[in-house]
Parts: sequence; structure tokens; C-alpha cells
Amino acid sequence: MDSVGLFILLILMFFQFTAAPAAEEITWTYTGLVGQSEWSAYFPECGGTSQSPVDVATTQTKYDPGLTAVTPLGYSQHGNKPFTLYNNGHTVVIELPEWMGLGGLPWLFTAVQMHLHWGSGGPSHGGSEHTVNGLSADAELHVVHYNSELYPNLSAAMTQRDGLAVLGILIVTGEETNQAFNSILNYLSRIRHADQKVFIPAFDVQSLLPKDLGRYYRYNGSLTTPPCYQSVIWTLFHERVQISKAQLLKLETILYSSKAEEADRMLLQDNYRTTQPLNHRVVFTSFSAESWKEFSSGEVTAIVIGVMCGCVGLAVVIRFIVKTIRFFKLLHRETVALYL
Ligand SMILES: *[C@@H]1O[C@H](CO)[C@@H](O)[C@H](O)[C@H]1NC(C)=O
Ligand SMILES: *[C@@H]1O[C@H](CO)[C@@H](O)[C@H](O)[C@H]1NC(C)=O
Repeated sequence: MDSVGLFILLILMFFQFTAAPAAEEITWTYTGLVGQSEWSAYFPECGGTSQSPVDVATTQTKYDPGLTAVTPLGYSQHGNKPFTLYNNGHTVVIELPEWMGLGGLPWLFTAVQMHLHWGSGGPSHGGSEHTVNGLSADAELHVVHYNSELYPNLSAAMTQRDGLAVLGILIVTGEETNQAFNSILNYLSRIRHADQKVFIPAFDVQSLLPKDLGRYYRYNGSLTTPPCYQSVIWTLFHERVQISKAQLLKLETILYSSKAEEADRMLLQDNYRTTQPLNHRVVFTSFSAESWKEFSSGEVTAIVIGVMCGCVGLAVVIRFIVKTIRFFKLLHRETVALYL
């Protein structure tokens, strides 16, 4: 073999050994070496133009009267078979039985799993993935379904347009404990480390959702984690659900993203992606804007002052007209008197 041949062989071997590992083997994170800004280098779809989450600017949304309420199917018929609760190092996942589904969309969707996203700083420090008018909620629940009318299973559906339907539920904190969420939170201490799994008693999944399933935002987007496939019909509910501050604190501080055998324990926190550009997309609403509820207090003050000025102006004009009429009546009477 000549030296050129040897050189080429060496180059080939070099590339063989430095070739990027397959995407499935990449351990992505939210910050650091394979943090969100690097995802697209390993998972090209993360750099796409229809990514999630997004900020919902309510003044830019479009009312679509054709959007009827989504209907959870079998969410409350949980049966006796336990659910599996799983720490996958990125979030806590609850696997859902295949008889649960979602109606009210152009196709029937079958439930797969649900999971949560949260922050690290307690209330009002971010934590949700979607934001509304730039404001975060404290956490967000996602219930994932696949299009079982068009595709045989999740893996086939997740790469296809209209393959998935995800319900997004914004979570904020209040005074009261949300008992439904304790069906999950009470068991987190058993799966503190990544890769740990536990069976938990089945519970009513519908009790995690807001009461008003008729008012929501709808747009076409993606998985919010690698590989970020742009296959999701998103439904983000307008109504938020409340959990207590203690419940949020538990969610934020109990899980690790590191495995049990790893020496350095890493808290699983801030597992939310920043909002992505809408680009050409429109966010539709199933409800028409209740105008005054959407205005800020400044705008409401301006409107009240405007209406008051209008009323005063109208009163002045009416007074002027009445006075003018009286004047001419008087004039008429005097004229009549003069001729008598
Ligand atoms: C999903 O469906 C596809 C297409 O029918 C099939 O090739 C694949 O093995 C299925 N995957 C799983 C995990 O069942
Ligand atoms: C999503 O994309 C499909 C085309 O694939 C389109 O028909 C549909 O109207 C879009 N939905 C929304 C909410 O933008």
C-alpha cells in the first residue's frame, strides 16, 4: 500500500472513531453541554420552524368557532390495574392504559402517558413550558395521546404530522391542597433516582384536568424534548389548575436526574424548554375574547374615563338642544303676543 492509500485509510479510521454516536445514545439535558441551545445539533428537528412550547399572545390569537370541547374518554374508568410511575431522568412519567383516549378531534387518539414540567424557585419563578402573554405558570402537566385511527402505535405516529395530541395544563399555586395531584406526588419519594419505577394505585386521571374543557388554545407544534418531532396537535387549556405551595415544593425538590449508583446527585429541576418562535403559525382559540377581562387595569381605567367623557359630552349637547328649543318656543310665544 502506498503512502497516499495509508493516509486515506488513517483518515477513514479517524472518522470512524470520532463519528457522532447515534442520537438515541445522546444524553440531553436542559442546561450544559447538551443543553437546549445544542439540541438541534444532535436532533435536527429541534431546529425546525414549528417547535413547542410557544408563548400565547392573546391579542394575536384567532377565534375558531369550529373548535368544540375536547372529551377525555375513559379517564375516570381507571380499573384496578396499578399505574406505573417512572423517573426517566428528565421528568416523572405516568404510563396510561390503552383504553383511555381523547375525542373531539378529527381522529380518535389513544392515551400513552402523562408527565410534568417544573422549575426550581417556588411560585412565580417559571416552571411551565407554555406561557400566556409572556407569563409562566409554576408547572405544566402534559397528557400524551397518539392518533390510533391513522397509525398502529406510538412510534409510528410520533414522527407524522397529526400523529400526536397533547393536552397542556398550566399549574399555579394557591392555598388549598389538590388531592388529585397527591395520587402522584405521594409516591415520588419511591422514585427519587433516574431509571427507578414503581407501581401506584390507579386513580381518576380526569380529576387532574381543569373543569372547563371547552375553552382552550390550539396550535400545531412539536414534542418539547428531543427528538422534538413536529407531530403534535396542541390543546392548552385556558383554565389553570391549582396545587398548594407545599405540593409544588415537593415536586421541585424530591427527584434527581442522576441514577442511584452515580456519586454526584443532581436535582431534577427546571425541566422546561424556553418558548420557541411561532414563525408562520397561528394560535386558535375555542372561545371568543371576553374583551374586558383581557384588558389591563390601565386600559379599563382609560375605557371608563372615555365612557364618562362621552356621557358628559352627550349631556351638554342634549342640554343645548333643549335650551334652543325652549328659546324658539319662547320667541314664538312673544311673537304671537306682539300681534295680538
Ligand atoms: C409500530 O408499528 C410499525 C408499523 O406497523 C411496526 O413496524 C413497529 O414494529 C411497531 N412498533 C412497536 C413498538 O410496536
Ligand atoms: C395544522 O396543520 C394542518 C395541516 O397539516 C392544518 O390543516 C390545520 O388547520 C393546522 N391546525 C392549526 C390549529 O393550525
